[in-house]
Amino acid sequence: MSYRNVSVLITGGLGFIGSNLAIRLVEAGARVTIVDPSVPGCGANLFNIDPVRHDVELIARDCGDAETFPQAIRRADLIFNLAGEISHIHSMEFPERDLLINGVSQLRFLQACVRYNPGVRIVYAGTRQVYGKPDYLPMDERHPVRPVDFNGVHKYAANMYHLMLSRSGHLDAIVLRLTNVYGPRMTLRIPCQGFLSTFFRRVLTGQPLEVFGDGQQLRDPVYVDDAIEAFLLSGKCAAPEGRTYNVGGARALSLLQIAEICAQLGGSLPVSLRPFPPDRASIDIGSYYTDSRLIERDLGWKPKTEFQQGAATTLAYYREHLAEYLDPANPEPFCSLPEHQGVQRKLMYATVPEEN
Ligand SMILES: NC(=O)c1ccc[n+]([C@@H]2O[C@H](COP(=O)([O-])OP(=O)(O)OC[C@H]3O[C@@H](n4cnc5c(N)ncnc54)[C@H](O)[C@@H]3O)[C@@H](O)[C@H]2O)c1
Repeated sequence: MSYRNVSVLITGGLGFIGSNLAIRLVEAGARVTIVDPSVPGCGANLFNIDPVRHDVELIARDCGDAETFPQAIRRADLIFNLAGEISHIHSMEFPERDLLINGVSQLRFLQACVRYNPGVRIVYAGTRQVYGKPDYLPMDERHPVRPVDFNGVHKYAANMYHLMLSRSGHLDAIVLRLTNVYGPRMTLRIPCQGFLSTFFRRVLTGQPLEVFGDGQQLRDPVYVDDAIEAFLLSGKCAAPEGRTYNVGGARALSLLQIAEICAQLGGSLPVSLRPFPPDRASIDIGSYYTDSRLIERDLGWKPKTEFQQGAATTLAYYREHLAEYLDPANPEPFCSLPEHQGVQRKLMYATVPEEN
């Protein structure tokens, strides 16, 4: 599978997964263009692409404003579409903002792709959150879709835009439904980005770890390099019938086990249980782990990295570059409402001139 001289467009390429993908593609000899306006409250960080900053073109625009960069879409041999907001809590606090980021911008972007590069292969970063509370485990692609939060609903809308436009022959999309991804370059600065970001932040600042509930809920975190392998394989494969693959981690672990591994790597930090805060209880899905056999059968993809090993590599990365990911004076920053309103306004009125 060669990416040499392949022209690739990555939306959301300043974020966690997108930047790791960009680095990997540059190493493979691809010509990489990133579209990312550094949406406040998401994980964009210019330092994420530091190793390849002279090798990628950066278009600092919302992918929903794609009509302003048609050439970048035209010349793409393939597109990795990772633009999005991942926080379930943010989506419940600011549902319209989530709709604009995960729904409206995606719709506008895909319409531009159909117009300027019909039939292009697009690999979309979907999420296991669309399934909601599992009826059975491990969860396969046939499980009913019943999202428990706005993030899941809006990500599912974008998921269906990709599939619908592929059924009608306008695009050639593959949707990867990712479980919790972790690794170097995930944001630590922003709260409400999931338990792994919180655990790593707490380890790096030497604070005790807290697990909500009884800690027995299962998760199967997937290391970012493994997830990227799934993107790369999907970029080049023949389109599968359902166009959708679940992508899960190497092993199901309880949240308590995950916290204990992190605490150990932090030098035996204390771990305690606490009751679910009400805002989290309402969107908790209980235990989840992935049945990834379909992508294994079709593409030969399998997660390779055990959590202990991936978490150690992740923490080593942050220890080396901590100042780029955490402000020691403010290690638990808070995303303010005005900041979100600003984003909402910007996206909603993207085509209307700003008032004075
Ligand atoms: N991290 C996970 O565990 C996980 C799990 C399931 C799915 N996903 C999906 O993978 C994708 C990447 O997630 P991540 O963890 O790297 O998140 P991230 O927040 O680190 O990165 C997302 C990036 O997308 C950019 N972005 C947001 N809206 C945009 C828009 N309209 N146009 C262009 N860029 C935009 C942000 O500025 C940010 O840099 C997301 O779509 C997310 O839903 C992530």
